[in-house]
Amino acid sequence: MPIPPRPDSTSNPPADTSVITVELGDRAYPIAIKSGETGLADPSGFASHFLDAVGDCTHAIVVQDVAIADSAGSMITQSLKSSPLRLSVIQIASGETSKSTDRIAQLWNEMLDTAADRRSVVIAVGGGVIGDLAGFAAATFTRGLRLVQVPTTLLAMVDSSVGGKTGINLPGGKNLVGSFWQPHMVWIDTDFLSTLPEREYISGLAEVIKYGVIEDADFFEYLEANIAAILQREPEPTRTAIAKSCESKARVVADDERETTGRRAILNYGHTFAHAVESTAGYGVMLHGEAVSIGMQMAAELSVSLGRCDRELLERQTALLAAAGLPLTWEDADVNDMIAVMARDKKVAHGKLRFVLPDRIGNVELVGDVPADEVAAAIRACR
Ligand SMILES: NC(=O)c1ccc[n+]([C@@H]2O[C@H](COP(=O)([O-])OP(=O)(O)OC[C@H]3O[C@@H](n4cnc5c(N)ncnc54)[C@H](O)[C@@H]3O)[C@@H](O)[C@H]2O)c1
Ligand SMILES: [Zn+2]
Repeated sequence: MPIPPRPDSTSNPPADTSVITVELGDRAYPIAIKSGETGLADPSGFASHFLDAVGDCTHAIVVQDVAIADSAGSMITQSLKSSPLRLSVIQIASGETSKSTDRIAQLWNEMLDTAADRRSVVIAVGGGVIGDLAGFAAATFTRGLRLVQVPTTLLAMVDSSVGGKTGINLPGGKNLVGSFWQPHMVWIDTDFLSTLPEREYISGLAEVIKYGVIEDADFFEYLEANIAAILQREPEPTRTAIAKSCESKARVVADDERETTGRRAILNYGHTFAHAVESTAGYGVMLHGEAVSIGMQMAAELSVSLGRCDRELLERQTALLAAAGLPLTWEDADVNDMIAVMARDKKVAHGKLRFVLPDRIGNVELVGDVPADEVAAAIRACR
């Protein structure tokens, strides 16, 4: 049985929910952002949006992080109990180790046990780990089930839940097995952030600030003016920061869904350095956003020293990342080890070092053939 076509679901959002559309032709989908007093106490909001977005379906499989089972997970299942759908819930242990071949194999079998078929829809409730794992399960089980993403970390709300990348890790490296699989809806309830630990929240802010640097100068200015309120998780500026980030990612993904034109590569600003930081520090030592913050500083240093941008850009970025409580330097950075990792990075073209570098706030370019001694100097500048 084929999966039903995507319904037009962006027509009628309630007052406390705004909708951003990811424009991908017949795979377009809404990002619904809900915040407001009703929050966790309003179980009906999700189910009606869900049914609008997925269309004909008989069975929902909630795949959730155990850490949010009693909060976000329970809100989603409560909401669906008011619908005629059959409901299954699968628990996933928290943490990156769940993005494994063992766990995906177990998940496929658990889905089989729920008698999932092509009229089932997978709902991923959790951070990027759950989104990637459950998303890949949706992409692959019976050659593809519909997927709804319900991100519960800031990083997942502004980055991993949007854009359709799903996958798991191999012992030899992160995200090596996966697939592009666009969701039918992303449901963001900013109230879910209330339980997120401070360090995870701040880490997510690195990706938020990234969007300002790479393609939205007005947003960067907004962040400069509102970062203290966002750090306090005040509802309105937090919601704006999430919405602007999703709009930014949606624009980039709509331009280059499958990384074929090079446009999507701008999302990797700071990430070539960050991956080298994460890898040489040992995975798990630093949170991803912390490494991205340091990586963005290294990239901006590199851009200044290559004469591609003025120092003011670096100073503004430094001030904003610092105000967000993110790290700017890493004193243990080992230049040779980091360059060796970068040379192995799958994003390196034909052995030459390539970087996404800013020329002004709001614009970056992909720059190839960067001399290794300039890269080394940029790393040293951030030690
Ligand atoms: N698909 C993509 O485009 C994409 C993009 C960026 C990152 N990723 C992936 O995302 C993953 C990282 O995502 P993450 O940072 O969300 O990590 P995560 O999913 O591990 O969540 C971080 C921690 O927060 C806990 N948690 C989640 N929501 C919570 C809440 N509301 N309250 C309290 N605790 C909560 C989790 O249990 C976990 O311990 C990585 O595997 C990365 O590869 C994917
Ligand atoms: Zn990232």
